[in-house]
Amino acid sequence: MIRTDGLHHRYGDVVAVDDVSITIPDGECVVLAGANGSGKTTLVRHFNGLLEPNEGIVEVNGRPVSDDLVAARAAVGMVFQDPRDQLVAATIGADVAFGPENLGLSRAEIDRRVEDALAAVNLQGREDERVGELSGGERERVAIAGALAMEPDHLVLDEPFTGLDAPARESVLDRLRTLTDSGTGVVIVTHDLRDVLGLADRVVAMADGRVVVDDAPAGALASLPEHDVRVPEGAANAERPSANHQAPQRRC
Ligand SMILES: Nc1ncnc2c1ncn2[C@@H]1O[C@H](COP(=O)(O)OP(=O)(O)O)[C@@H](O)[C@H]1O
Ligand SMILES: [Mg+2]
Repeated sequence: MIRTDGLHHRYGDVVAVDDVSITIPDGECVVLAGANGSGKTTLVRHFNGLLEPNEGIVEVNGRPVSDDLVAARAAVGMVFQDPRDQLVAATIGADVAFGPENLGLSRAEIDRRVEDALAAVNLQGREDERVGELSGGERERVAIAGALAMEPDHLVLDEPFTGLDAPARESVLDRLRTLTDSGTGVVIVTHDLRDVLGLADRVVAMADGRVVVDDAPAGALASLPEHDVRVPEGAANAERPSANHQAPQRRC
């Protein structure tokens, strides 16, 4: 479980996160929406101690993140907005192994984790391929696998669809759906709700550093446009999806 209480974060005079109290239970799929600059990235970077609050509390599994950064990072995996910021090694296998290697696990355990994480993003057997030669969608999936290899309770993805074409986006979405079936909590940060609403148990929207909507998707839809969050065409009428909008079978 991730919990913040009265969280404030400032960059100089800019108040990026303004009194946010939010609890994300294990296994929940949360879409965190809001316009550019609304504070989404700043908020989620507190969840594993990449940023420290100016005021307030951030806890993971009941413990302040600052008390045990290693535990927080093991429990909350983060996939950055640009996978190039995240991929550290030349090959897929080496990249995904990097995190587990730093946990000091046995070679057999590292290999098992790499294998499982690659299977989860449909890149099994491709350990030796060079990261530099992959497409954007494949790189995103390697970044997700790297986070998964830490076997986190929650996976936080910051704008995972940026720069991806429709098939790559669909592939990442498919992987997220499968992943949540295994009980991993997922937080998807996005300014664009196309396709992700069907995955969410809950939609949280931010504006000017504050949480302005926190509701089930159907309830959230009605209030999102007034907070400048792009709502997909046809989604506002959830009972009557348009003909080409297939309602997802499962929620994550
Ligand atoms: N490293 C930084 N230094 C100064 N200001 C920042 C920094 N990162 C973000 N900000 C500012 O904080 C606010 C929230 O930004 P951010 O958390 O990136 O929002 P979002 O992810 O919703 O686009 C914005 O006003 C942004 O300009
Ligand atoms: Mg951001």
